[in-house]
Amino acid sequence: MKKKIIHLKTVDSTNTYLKLLAEKGEKEGCVVVSDKQTSGRGRRGKSFFSPDGTGLYMSFLLQPEFSPDEALFITPCAAVATARAIEFMTKKPCLIKWVNDIYVDSKKVAGILTEGSFDFEKDKTNYVIVGVGVNVLSPLGDFPEELRTLATSLDCGDIREKLSHKILEEFFKLYKDFKSHSFIKEYKERSFIVGKTIEVMGYENIKGRVLEIDDCCRLVIELPDKTKKVLTSGEVSTKII
Ligand code: BTN
Repeated sequence: MKKKIIHLKTVDSTNTYLKLLAEKGEKEGCVVVSDKQTSGRGRRGKSFFSPDGTGLYMSFLLQPEFSPDEALFITPCAAVATARAIEFMTKKPCLIKWVNDIYVDSKKVAGILTEGSFDFEKDKTNYVIVGVGVNVLSPLGDFPEELRTLATSLDCGDIREKLSHKILEEFFKLYKDFKSHSFIKEYKERSFIVGKTIEVMGYENIKGRVLEIDDCCRLVIELPDKTKKVLTSGEVSTKII
């Protein structure tokens, strides 16, 4: 697929910027990369720390033919592509913490924020924006206090450009045959969370042991009373305890 790459020095959020372009008629394959984000965003309203020159902050636009239900699988697909690309570039084993966090050495190095515009009446996806943020180099003066125990950087030199190309290459390889869900097997194999006890933050705060990720990329957990609960990504975030 032909890609149009827009490189910015600074932006509030590459996802927000690309959303405006999509609304104005930009086409699938448009990629926005910025050296810095002043309001980088993560899932569930969190911010994504995006200092100048040390991270890869990239968003790309998709206009899939498939339904909003199917579009839910884009995040796992992007997670597998990002994990593969990081592993290829750094030779460091890369795991995925359900649903959208990439872990190296038991710490988060990357996150994915997928946003979209849907027509539920027509069961149609207008567009999807996939935002990928990777901590490539250690930020000057370290991560903010609250991230220090949770986040890390790849620290393999300034590989931002090559890494961005590799992520896109891996993603679009999987996207070509998206409906086969060929990436799910690897998504499960790279899980950082299966077997661990977690706290689920969301509509109800519960604790449980992760049994598996199912074929629909839902998290199956066992509660203390041995009942099973199946969680979809939209509703919750998880903390390993
Ligand atoms: C998360 O950790 O919950 C997801 C983080 C996603 C960050 C990337 S950086 C590029 C794109 N622009 C944003 O504002 N967010 C994503």
